[in-house]
Amino acid sequence: MKITSFELENVKRVKAVAITPNRSGLTVIGGKNGQGKTSILDAIAWALGGESYRPTNASRDGSVLPPKLHVEMDNGIVVDRAGKNSALTVTDPTGKRAGQKLLDEFVEKLALDLPRFMAQSSRDKAKTLLRIIGMEDEIKRLDDAEQQLYNQRRALGQIADQKKKFAMEMQSFPGAPESPVSVSELIERQQAILLRNAENQKKRNRAMELSYEKQKIFDEIKRLREQAEELERRIRDRKQAYENTVRDEEIAMKDAAELQDESTAELEDSISRVEEINARVRANMDKERAMKEADDLANQYAGMTVQIEGIRQKRTDLLAGADLPLPELAVEQGELFYRGKAWDCMSGAEQLRVSVAIVKAINPRCQFVLIDKTEQMDADTLEEFGEWLEGEGLQAICTRVATDGTCQIIIEDGTVASDETKQATWQKGVF
Ligand SMILES: Nc1ncnc2c1ncn2[C@@H]1O[C@H](COP(=O)(O)OP(=O)(O)OP(=O)(O)O)[C@@H](O)[C@H]1O
Ligand SMILES: [Mg+2]
Repeated sequence: MKITSFELENVKRVKAVAITPNRSGLTVIGGKNGQGKTSILDAIAWALGGESYRPTNASRDGSVLPPKLHVEMDNGIVVDRAGKNSALTVTDPTGKRAGQKLLDEFVEKLALDLPRFMAQSSRDKAKTLLRIIGMEDEIKRLDDAEQQLYNQRRALGQIADQKKKFAMEMQSFPGAPESPVSVSELIERQQAILLRNAENQKKRNRAMELSYEKQKIFDEIKRLREQAEELERRIRDRKQAYENTVRDEEIAMKDAAELQDESTAELEDSISRVEEINARVRANMDKERAMKEADDLANQYAGMTVQIEGIRQKRTDLLAGADLPLPELAVEQGELFYRGKAWDCMSGAEQLRVSVAIVKAINPRCQFVLIDKTEQMDADTLEEFGEWLEGEGLQAICTRVATDGTCQIIIEDGTVASDETKQATWQKGVF
């Protein structure tokens, strides 16, 4: 339902106006301060909204006649308020008398005062939107799940950070062995070396023995030479033996010369420092364990991030499948978003568009809105909003403190300024 025309007399600041608003898009009522613009919207709201919209001082001061309101709707409903008590008369499309109840079917209260809806908190607007699309509970469940995960993840993240910091600060010894040193193993290795060294000693002793043997034989030969010629054969034998021995000695000497004893100094050192080394080994193991715990926590954190993103995606999908009053509207954590922007990040035109779309969705039969004080919108914003309204087939009747080309109607002293007056103002250079 839209407003086809209205005639208002002696209500608040209005003396008498008769206006036929545009069927769709904007109808901007301009004028200087205090001329009666808001009074017009208040009168329409009273006519369509019922007794609770009756202005405190409805009757125009100085008027002997009571207020008179006449509003015609495009579905044939006609509303009148007249007489001493401004009694309501509603005529239905067939010409029969009806009442406020019939109007209530077509009029959404928020449409009578769009700025009131716009002034609501973003959360309240989001709630309204979710109620309209019937997803209050589902989205709330997802929001709660996300919030819970988010809190858990934050706590986990703090622990992970602390753990990592603690692990980084722990002392470590790059040169220390990977596992603790065992004393018995060191002693075993020492004994093995000592055993091999003893073996070497044996070989050395054998070489010494052979030297001694050589000397003995040499002496014997000498003695035998001196003793007798007949012992010549024996001497030859012994000579042979001597030569053999010399050869063996040579080999043995060579062997002995090449022998090298292994040092046990390093092991002795290790044994004496075993406690210190093991302390370092334990420190390294502790650090490694702490680092691993920190890594595990970081992995859990990442896992939760994936879960949270999953929930967000679910919510986006849910809303994408919903019958939204406006494409690209969304609700996240109870806040309203349009084209990814929160309410306070939307342009004025976007805020108007979102509000009108939501209000229209509350009662799709109500196809008009009243918007007081649009002067914070510049001409471009107004035009953009007007084009969108036309595209949606919606009607908006607005007021604006202006007398320029953005206004279709100028109110002066409670009446519509005549074209001649406008012309005169124009010539004075106001336009
Ligand atoms: N019942 C009444 N009779 C006569 N004048 C009234 C009545 N009620 C309010 N006014 C006067 O009307 C003026 C305000 O009218 P209205 O709010 O309609 O003007 P406006 O054009 O919207 O002004 P603004 O640009 O400041 O919003 C005030 O000066 C107020 O004192
Ligand atoms: Mg006003």
